[in-house]
Amino acid sequence: MLWSEFLTCGLVFSAVSFQHVQGRRRIRGYENGECMRHDNIGDRKCAKKCDHDADCKSKKKACECDGVCGRSCVNPNLRCMPVPRQIPHGSVAILPYNKFAAVARYKCQDGYILVGLSVRVCQGDETWNGDEPRCALDNYQADKNVACRSPPNINHAHIVSGVEHHHEMGTKLMYKCDLGYTPTKGSIDSAWCVTNGIWVGPNLTCVSTTAVPKCPTPPQIAYGSVEVLSTSGVGEEAEYRCNQGFYLIGVKIRHCLKNEMWNGTTPSCDKVVCGPPPHVEHAEHDADPDTFRFPTSTTLNYACEFGYYREGSPRAICTGPEGNWAGPSLICKARDCGAPGEINNGFRDPGYRFTYPTRVTYHCSNGYELQGRGYRECLANGEWSGELPECFPIHCMELRPPLHGTMIGSGTTFGSVIRFVCNDGFKVVGSAERTCQADRTWSGQNAYCEEINCGIPGPIWNGYLDGHRNTVGAVYFFRCNIRTKFHGESFSTQCLENGQWSYPPPQCLGQCQVPAIMNGTIDNATEGVWANTGTVISPRCLNGLVLNDSVPITCNNGTWNIIPRCVPAPCSDPPPLVEYGHRVFFGVRHGDRARYFCIEGFKLSTRESMYLTCQYGRWDGPTPQCEENYCPNPGDIDNGKVFKKGSVGKFLFRDFIYTIKHGTRLEYECDRNYKLVGPRGAACVNGNWSPKDKPLCVKSRHPLFHKLWKPYEEQKAMSYRYRRR
Ligand SMILES: *[C@@H]1O[C@H](CO)[C@@H](O)[C@H](O)[C@H]1NC(C)=O
Ligand SMILES: *[C@@H]1O[C@H](CO)[C@@H](O)[C@H](O)[C@H]1NC(C)=O
Ligand SMILES: *[C@@H]1O[C@H](CO)[C@@H](O)[C@H](O)[C@H]1NC(C)=O
Ligand SMILES: *[C@@H]1O[C@H](CO)[C@@H](O)[C@H](O)[C@H]1NC(C)=O
Ligand SMILES: *[C@@H]1O[C@H](CO)[C@@H](O)[C@H](O)[C@H]1NC(C)=O
Ligand SMILES: *[C@@H]1O[C@H](CO)[C@@H](O)[C@H](O)[C@H]1NC(C)=O
Repeated sequence: MLWSEFLTCGLVFSAVSFQHVQGRRRIRGYENGECMRHDNIGDRKCAKKCDHDADCKSKKKACECDGVCGRSCVNPNLRCMPVPRQIPHGSVAILPYNKFAAVARYKCQDGYILVGLSVRVCQGDETWNGDEPRCALDNYQADKNVACRSPPNINHAHIVSGVEHHHEMGTKLMYKCDLGYTPTKGSIDSAWCVTNGIWVGPNLTCVSTTAVPKCPTPPQIAYGSVEVLSTSGVGEEAEYRCNQGFYLIGVKIRHCLKNEMWNGTTPSCDKVVCGPPPHVEHAEHDADPDTFRFPTSTTLNYACEFGYYREGSPRAICTGPEGNWAGPSLICKARDCGAPGEINNGFRDPGYRFTYPTRVTYHCSNGYELQGRGYRECLANGEWSGELPECFPIHCMELRPPLHGTMIGSGTTFGSVIRFVCNDGFKVVGSAERTCQADRTWSGQNAYCEEINCGIPGPIWNGYLDGHRNTVGAVYFFRCNIRTKFHGESFSTQCLENGQWSYPPPQCLGQCQVPAIMNGTIDNATEGVWANTGTVISPRCLNGLVLNDSVPITCNNGTWNIIPRCVPAPCSDPPPLVEYGHRVFFGVRHGDRARYFCIEGFKLSTRESMYLTCQYGRWDGPTPQCEENYCPNPGDIDNGKVFKKGSVGKFLFRDFIYTIKHGTRLEYECDRNYKLVGPRGAACVNGNWSPKDKPLCVKSRHPLFHKLWKPYEEQKAMSYRYRRR
């Protein structure tokens, strides 16, 4: 984007915003299409393009002309980052303040020209377009031979360098005090001609070094005069005075200084007046209360307020050169009424000052009431208002004895106590004792006598009440129904003086019928009989049966707590032990089974079962037995012998031995010229020989037998079977 284009944009904007500020009409860019989005917008971020406000989604936004972005949806209330209000050698004016479309106008001081934009606009993206311009020295003007104005004149000083009438811009001139004069401290004695021919400097004051300074005639003042007094050596003095009725504001004496000027400032004269008169407590003066300025010698008279008396002079006079009040010197003192007096049966609020306008109050002691006014006031005339009040005792209303009763005590004054007593058979309702109180009322409630009534003695379940009166002395009888048991302290009750019955009603507790126990009997009761509540019965079961529940069976108000059943008994002992064996069982209840096993080398005898069952408390059936598990006699082997191996050696084993125990070991041996084919021995394991097969004794020279004994095919078949498993 070119600067010229930017400037155009800015100017267009300035026109827009100008009208906007003036509030005449809202202009939204140019309807003829001048406000268009430019093709090359550089870094500028543009909002959504639009033709009308309706094109903008947010209600905060409006369709406005946003410079190079053309008509876009922008927030018309947005703010741009503030730009500095000043630039070196220049200034900035912004309107309206930093708002969208606000215009910043840059201006340079005289002798400087603006480099850059003279106008910048606050854009829709909250930035100012372009860069800040700067003010550069106007070389063109500086170069030009503009004539300087005439250099300034300084009192008692002259220019030393050159006396030309025309000076060029940039010329420097030197000043010097005239003979007999000297520059004051800090003076600058040179001057420069700068832009537009203006002189800067000098700042030079030349004062006389030798002679006594001579000042001009001091200025006159209104309502006064000034007189110059010459004093030897030091210099002149001017003295100011004011006319009669006026006073001086400022310093009276002025000195003529070395620079031949009067020091300080000119004083003035003002009319002498007094301000508001002094305030005296409880006093008033005779001036108009709305007057605040009084001419000199005005006299005022003060008077004390009603109730106060005066001490001192009541006069005040406006006097003095500056208008001060003299006096008054009075004090207004309150009148003292003296002690106001005390009362009987009462007291006065404490207090020791009895001056006007004190008020004292009186109160009566408890039980007394005040007659007359409860307070007195110290009046302006030094006397107490009214008269002393009096305290009289308080009275309560007279009470009367109640019907069917009497009243003990009398009196109606505060603190009196009255008691009420009722006749026999009656009781006091309300307060039996009442006291006369400070508020003229009796404490408590009204008392009366009420006949004592015990009411109904109470309900009886499974029974009834026999009686009809409820007043003092009346009697009721308690009755229980059939099949119930009386359970209580007394069969009758009487209404007492205190309104209570002498005995509470009893309980009539239901009886229970002795039950039948299936497969059992009841030891100490007969079936079908009615038993009182609390009765305990003990049933017994037939042989082999037991009660399923061990809690005592008790009759409780018509119901047995439980009726047990006879159930088969469990076995009291574990199943019997067996020799050379052991048992496995999981319980001893009726029907539980125990299984028996024998130890190695023994087996259960075939006569008994391997189980025992718990039946009605006993292990049913014959106890299993473990008997030794003998091996069968293996018999002889042809052309060989069988030996039994023992701890001491081996001996020939005969074919008639039958008690061959578990663990017996045999050894096979062949006769001479025979060779053993097969196992060399065997052991008796749980009634069987291991290995099972017996060997053969074959002629040792005959090789065929060897092959016959273990045919190849059979071995192969066996191993095949093995593999298939
Ligand atoms: C001139 O000099 C006086 C005293 O040194 C000083 O107070 C005053 O500011 C100076 N004025 C200018 C315009 O420099
Ligand atoms: C002028 O100077 C004298 C002496 O220094 C001093 O007493 C007097 O108050 C000064 N006057 C004013 C108006 O400052
Ligand atoms: C006894 O049983 C009767 C009803 O049969 C019942 O009303 C009464 O309250 C029971 N008494 C007690 C003490 O449980
Ligand atoms: C209990 O008695 C009933 C009937 O009297 C009878 O059938 C049953 O076998 C008995 N039970 C036992 C365990 O004796
Ligand atoms: C029946 O026997 C039990 C137990 O011995 C005993 O507690 C109970 O009081 C007896 N009951 C009667 C009615 O004798
Ligand atoms: C025993 O049998 C009675 C009657 O069937 C039953 O009410 C009770 O709960 C049983 N008791 C136990 C401990 O099972």
